[in-house]
Amino acid sequence: MPSVDSIIQSIRTTGRAPSGENAEACSPALAKGPWEFDGVVQYGPGSSMGDVIPVGSPRQGGLPEEYRTAPADELHARIRAAKETLGDRVVVLGHFYQRDEVVQHADFLGDSFQLANAAQTVPNAEAIVFCGVHFMAETADILASPEQAVILPNLAAGCSMADMADIDSVEEAWAQLEALYGTEPDANGRVPIIPVTYMNSAADLKGFCGRHGGIVCTSSNAETVLEWAFERGQRVLFFPDQHLGRNTAKRMGIPLERMPMWNPRKPLGGNSGDNLLDARVVLWHGFCSVHKRFTPAQVEKARAEHPGVRVIVHPECPMEVVDLADEAGSTDYIRKAIAAATQPTTFAVGTEINLVNRLAEEYPQHEIFCLDPVVCPCSTMYRIHPGYLAWVLEELVAGRVVNQIEVPDDIAADARVALERMLSAKPKASAHDAAAS
Ligand code: 13P
Ligand code: SF4
Repeated sequence: MPSVDSIIQSIRTTGRAPSGENAEACSPALAKGPWEFDGVVQYGPGSSMGDVIPVGSPRQGGLPEEYRTAPADELHARIRAAKETLGDRVVVLGHFYQRDEVVQHADFLGDSFQLANAAQTVPNAEAIVFCGVHFMAETADILASPEQAVILPNLAAGCSMADMADIDSVEEAWAQLEALYGTEPDANGRVPIIPVTYMNSAADLKGFCGRHGGIVCTSSNAETVLEWAFERGQRVLFFPDQHLGRNTAKRMGIPLERMPMWNPRKPLGGNSGDNLLDARVVLWHGFCSVHKRFTPAQVEKARAEHPGVRVIVHPECPMEVVDLADEAGSTDYIRKAIAAATQPTTFAVGTEINLVNRLAEEYPQHEIFCLDPVVCPCSTMYRIHPGYLAWVLEELVAGRVVNQIEVPDDIAADARVALERMLSAKPKASAHDAAAS
């Protein structure tokens, strides 16, 4: 299967996919190099292009012209040569959502949790080049040793969902919730509320959780983490992704009416005090613009057109989509579910297009397609281009570290507490009942 990049180029030049079928991309600007947008305050073309980017989000300085104009073959040869020169001194990590043109150079490919762990397994590497987004590079920096430099090839590769919760708004919400609930534990020793942040959040929010008895979760361990939290607290404030929070809590038996949404722009998040007193999970008003594109109508269409199709979606999708799917799980869950299928199967997948198309390439015995017919990659993942990778690696060869991501020590110390709680949290068999009580 051609890469997402080549499909986008083909749509731009012919209006069709390389296979000749009609195809549509969500923005013609996707065919441009990401450096075209470096000077502009926006996420760039792709799924989050309509989202509001916060003032002060990291920007990328200009990429030297030689990397913007070099043909693809030359960039790949230069990346390979730089990696060979650097040897074990550098490790390149690639997230599943990265474009194939970058993934081919990754020493480790994985989800955000696996890559954070991978960063800890390479103590000899002086530099960790993280081909992913900003919060992932921050997490790698928190978990890596102090001598290691974590590099994000394009500093503008943020995450629009992570940007939907910022430390000031969360502290303001926390102050209001503490004023309402108090801070005294109940008869079972459970405090009124525990903060839980999704891995897709800035380091200072992980630090906030560390300081306030809270914890981090990923899409692969959200239920275990909520079990952990309900053992220690009567309620949870879950940020930034409302969908992961809602889908996980619902699966644990918590009724929807006990999951009010917190809108940071409204007093009490737009809720009544009674509503919040009855809450089990207070959901932050955040979402992923990639996964928000999936709809119940797409699932129904896949079922109508492909009898017997297995629909697997990411839990960042809206609840109505998750409810209609056969399964929901993290990127690694999706990959493993397809790898484990022994009979040729049709899979309709609700997650980022680069991963879906790569799975289709890797498992030709199955028919695998993305539920969303429009080619619309994650805007910020897509900002990592081989040109940036070649640049940061050649700078390392020249003895210069560029685009280093450094989390201040005090924030890193608190964030590490919340991450370590996550790493030691273990699933509990009877937690559904406890969570629903
Ligand atoms: P994973 O945690 O599965 O890597 O997902 C990260 C992400 O950004 C999903 O949108
Ligand atoms: Fe963020 Fe969504 Fe992109 Fe993941 S897919 S990095 S949550 S915007």
